[in-house]
Amino acid sequence: MGRAHDVPVSFDNVRDKNLMLLTKLNLAIFPVKYDGRYYTDALSSGDFTKLAYYGDICVGSIACRIEWNNANVVRLYIMTLGVLAPYRRLGIGSKLMRHILDLCQQDAAMSDIYLHVQTSNEEALAFYQNFGFEVLEKIEKYYTDIERPDCYLLVKSIRPRSKGKATT
Ligand code: ACO
Repeated sequence: MGRAHDVPVSFDNVRDKNLMLLTKLNLAIFPVKYDGRYYTDALSSGDFTKLAYYGDICVGSIACRIEWNNANVVRLYIMTLGVLAPYRRLGIGSKLMRHILDLCQQDAAMSDIYLHVQTSNEEALAFYQNFGFEVLEKIEKYYTDIERPDCYLLVKSIRPRSKGKATT
């Protein structure tokens, strides 16, 4: 029998037709309410936004925004990464994150990935730090309409993968 982290997971892109699944996941997982810009950015990010399925059940998602600066350097902002509570600690969040990291490493213009996470969210901090994200700064009262509004800004630099070399 395989480890819990070997559970079968498949991904699907987010489109207009299944956008409601992302909305429902966000309502179930996050205290923050996401607006139209979030969903526009998620739809425009292509393969950087995914729904995760455990069998037929949609149990998690990662939603990103691609940001270009003037020098043709690209940054990736993880807007949300979440897995429904009964399906956590099965490696699904890690699979979503590895998918994004693989895409970033294939893109020579990608400089870094960043995100905000509540300072009180120790589980998510442990998760991101396992993937090499570092705390850049603490921002007080970042969130305007939730309890415990302070957040950390986490960043991970991207080093493009050289062709033909495997990475862990
Ligand atoms: N406590 C301590 N370490 C944890 C925890 C936890 N509760 N959850 C994950 N980790 C660490 C562990 O090292 C774990 O490895 P292990 O299980 O072998 O010990 C490792 O992260 C990988 O865990 P996964 O099983 O891959 O993670 P999971 O599928 O549970 O997803 C996630 C992690 C997305 C953070 C999940 O807990 C979640 O959905 N939380 C609620 C939503 C949330 O807080 N999202 C992040 C907010 S920030 C943002 O969205 C930009």
